[in-house]
Amino acid sequence: MIAKTNIFYSSTIDSTNQALKAILDLIKPANDVAFIAKYQEKGKGQGTNEWESEKEMNLTFSLLKTNLALQASEVFLLNKLVAVAIVELLKQLKVENVKIKWPNDILVNGRKICGILINNILFGSNLQNSIIGIGLNVNQKNFNTYERQATSILLETGKKHEIWSVFENLLNILQLNFQLLVNNPSQFDRLYLENLYCLDEWRGYIIKGKRTNGKIIGVNNFGQLQMKISSEEIISLNMKEVKFL
Ligand code: BTN
Repeated sequence: MIAKTNIFYSSTIDSTNQALKAILDLIKPANDVAFIAKYQEKGKGQGTNEWESEKEMNLTFSLLKTNLALQASEVFLLNKLVAVAIVELLKQLKVENVKIKWPNDILVNGRKICGILINNILFGSNLQNSIIGIGLNVNQKNFNTYERQATSILLETGKKHEIWSVFENLLNILQLNFQLLVNNPSQFDRLYLENLYCLDEWRGYIIKGKRTNGKIIGVNNFGQLQMKISSEEIISLNMKEVKFL
């Protein structure tokens, strides 16, 4: 059964991830909660980055998943499930060449179309609640210059979309994936790998501060990138240890 989701909507908020954290601090919601905002004044990105998004142009929302009952060791499965949901949505909206850049950026023709920020709430070794923040560029045409260029659904397909319908569509795919996770978690490993950016390609990276040629061969259950760096040597990398050139 698809999980019931209560939906909150705000025209301006600091950050939808922060808003759900505040709700979770106050009450223990029995159902999932989605928080969507037209505009975030302090949208959070990975690390210390901000997430910039032009007012009313893009989808910025967070989903509080409750009652997850996952082991802490299964945390990366969530990243996979969410990334795969966004790939599915973009394919439905006729966006081509969608790839997942490890760990969970979504790229189209090498440009970033979507960022994912997951805050997990662990109780000992149990993952019970998770706040999944998604920033998806929908109708924005002009972007600031970033290290990696940004793009949007409009720029890729020439078609504008109503933000609310993109939200509903994505929420359905996400909740369906959570339902599928119960019986068949390995499908997300397969789908994540099938769509992984630079899989099986020899190319340049900065690995632990040094320019190195490598070939991504997969991602292990802990979410570490598996990289072949010579015919015999495969290394496991954490997020801050590798930079894509
Ligand atoms: C990244 O840096 O790639 C992650 C960006 C995540 C942005 C989304 S927008 C909705 C949610 N609320 C936030 O403050 N951040 C996430």
